[in-house]
Amino acid sequence: MQIEDSLSGLRAQLKIWRQQGHTIAFVPTMGNLHDGHLSLLKKARTLADKVVVSIFVNPLQFDDANDLANYPRTLKHDINKLTVAGCDLLFTPDNKVMYPTGLDFHSFVHVPGMDDKLCGLERPGHFDGVATVVSKLFNMVQPDLAVFGEKDYQQLLLIRKLVADFNLPVKIVAAPTCREADGLAMSSRNQRLNVTQRQLATMLNQQLTLIKQQLEQGGYDSAALCDKAIAILSEAGFTVDYLEIRRAEDLMLADISKDQKLRILVAARLGEVRLIDNMAVSLSART
Ligand code: PAJ
Repeated sequence: MQIEDSLSGLRAQLKIWRQQGHTIAFVPTMGNLHDGHLSLLKKARTLADKVVVSIFVNPLQFDDANDLANYPRTLKHDINKLTVAGCDLLFTPDNKVMYPTGLDFHSFVHVPGMDDKLCGLERPGHFDGVATVVSKLFNMVQPDLAVFGEKDYQQLLLIRKLVADFNLPVKIVAAPTCREADGLAMSSRNQRLNVTQRQLATMLNQQLTLIKQQLEQGGYDSAALCDKAIAILSEAGFTVDYLEIRRAEDLMLADISKDQKLRILVAARLGEVRLIDNMAVSLSART
């Protein structure tokens, strides 16, 4: 696997691959890689000739300086995993490569309709940071396609809108959420849970599954289903930031009597650790 930390090094290799007629898939990450990240790489490998992965802990998307400072940086391990998984090129820019003029004087990209709901409400400026860095990375790599995880569902929709609004010539491919054996969505944050919290954490997936089953069986009092799940999680020790049923397509408020494609989304804290998860619900047409 080739590793490049400069834009010129990245572009030189990409130019060669382009001249050879290869297609290029891209998987942007912040490192500390687990099997969830690697599943995106595996998917990318089936869709293009060459796969580029980036690792960059993007300061622009952190609203909390502590969170940024404590973000696990495990480059050696990540390199081993990517080599085994068959990544062709790892791009590891630093802040000087990504933000040479500093953060305060950098232009940024704002995608409307994200700050006012779900994770946007809890994390001011976060999605502008994501939209900006992903726009830059797309321009640097110029891939044919890029793979994003459904684990971060709101982020996935943000990227789709960014690409549509700016007519970016990149296809966005979604990959399903990878879970631990007990159903907990894989996340670098899971390592920060203590033993008791780790056992409790599986309740998130359980509650989402329960709501999905009840909705699919015709339980259309969605507010009551959410309230009940929030009460159960709170009782168990979670601080629930949100647990909502939204329209899958654009995350607008769902009308359960009409909308068929829904998404249940949750963010909840156990101690200092904030976990997110989501699940698709497909309701059959009702008359
Ligand atoms: P990061 O949290 O490192 O995630 C990188 C990619 O891995 C994202 O597309 C995310 O949705 C996906 N991912 C994480 N956990 C997953 C799981 N359990 N199953 C499937 N996919 C999973 O998301 C970011 O980085 C950043 O915001 C980034 C897009 C790189 C911009 O900085």
